[in-house]
Amino acid sequence: MSEPVHFDDKVVIVTGAGGGLGRAHALLFARHGARVVVNDLGGSASGEGANASAADRVVSEIREAGGTAVANHDSVTDGDKIVQNALDAFGRVDVVVNNAGILRDKSFAKMEDADWDLVYRVHVEGAYKVTHAAWPHLREQNYGRVIFTSSTSGIYGNFGQSNYGMAKLGLYGLTRTLALEGRKNNILVNAIAPTGGTRMTEGLIPPNVFELLKPELISPLVVYLGSEQCQDSAGLFEVGGGWIGKVRWERSLGAGFDPHAGFSPEDVAAQWQVISDFGGAVHPQDNVEALKEMMANLQRYMG
Ligand SMILES: NC(=O)c1ccc[n+]([C@@H]2O[C@H](COP(=O)([O-])OP(=O)(O)OC[C@H]3O[C@@H](n4cnc5c(N)ncnc54)[C@H](O)[C@@H]3O)[C@@H](O)[C@H]2O)c1
Repeated sequence: MSEPVHFDDKVVIVTGAGGGLGRAHALLFARHGARVVVNDLGGSASGEGANASAADRVVSEIREAGGTAVANHDSVTDGDKIVQNALDAFGRVDVVVNNAGILRDKSFAKMEDADWDLVYRVHVEGAYKVTHAAWPHLREQNYGRVIFTSSTSGIYGNFGQSNYGMAKLGLYGLTRTLALEGRKNNILVNAIAPTGGTRMTEGLIPPNVFELLKPELISPLVVYLGSEQCQDSAGLFEVGGGWIGKVRWERSLGAGFDPHAGFSPEDVAAQWQVISDFGGAVHPQDNVEALKEMMANLQRYMG
């Protein structure tokens, strides 16, 4: 049996916690002893309007269950205000769960700038603003856990979600670099790609499956990633319906050409099978590992 996951005096910010997955995360963090900032702007699923009651309701639920929480109604694009709220209410911040999100699905042909921009602003800029405001505090105390919410729509693509997929995989790029920059200050950074039955997915998933994809089935992973027990960083986890798996990059060994002589498009075509052959594929963990095969090719031709 593993050690109990407990947050003692730790302070957790969960963005977009007025409903859906964020609500479930906030409730579970509180149940494990965390003091929680329940952030939610309370707008529609496509990011219109605002309503304080979403966050307030979740705070009431946490308090009724004996937990500690405060509500915050700012947009994640005002991340500094959310972090300031955590500092004012609890004097610190230890864990940031970037969960707030919206959808503006449209085929790329019909995509308008406003849909592209708002999705970018909420998911990417919002996650940046909240995390960037928390970062100096995490560094100073030599402790932090940050979780970003990515999506299979970003990892694999999804018709009608070019804006959303761009934002969601962008968050994994952010995860990888912050994991590197945070490591020496014990700030661990991971991403999840959840599948859950929420207003975001209602109507898209058959009702009998939707019922089973409870948001509560995502939160144990998020709370674990936010805990001291978790020592992993830079991870990406697909999670939902009671299942969790880890994702990693895979790359073929590739084909090498003579850098002095150069090569033609026809040479590329001739090597296409080799370039695309995943037999003996590698799984680079960082830039240095990623460049290994390219460097080996250069060395082959160096004088
Ligand atoms: N549900 C899924 O299957 C699924 C799949 C992949 C990724 N996600 C991601 O998980 C996260 C949670 O989604 P959900 O399914 O619970 O949807 P949801 O709509 O139920 O919850 C999102 C919450 O974020 C809040 N929010 C939106 N814009 C905000 C802003 N600017 N500032 C503060 N709060 C804001 C909303 O008010 C809402 O309460 C999102 O990032 C979403 O993209 C969900």
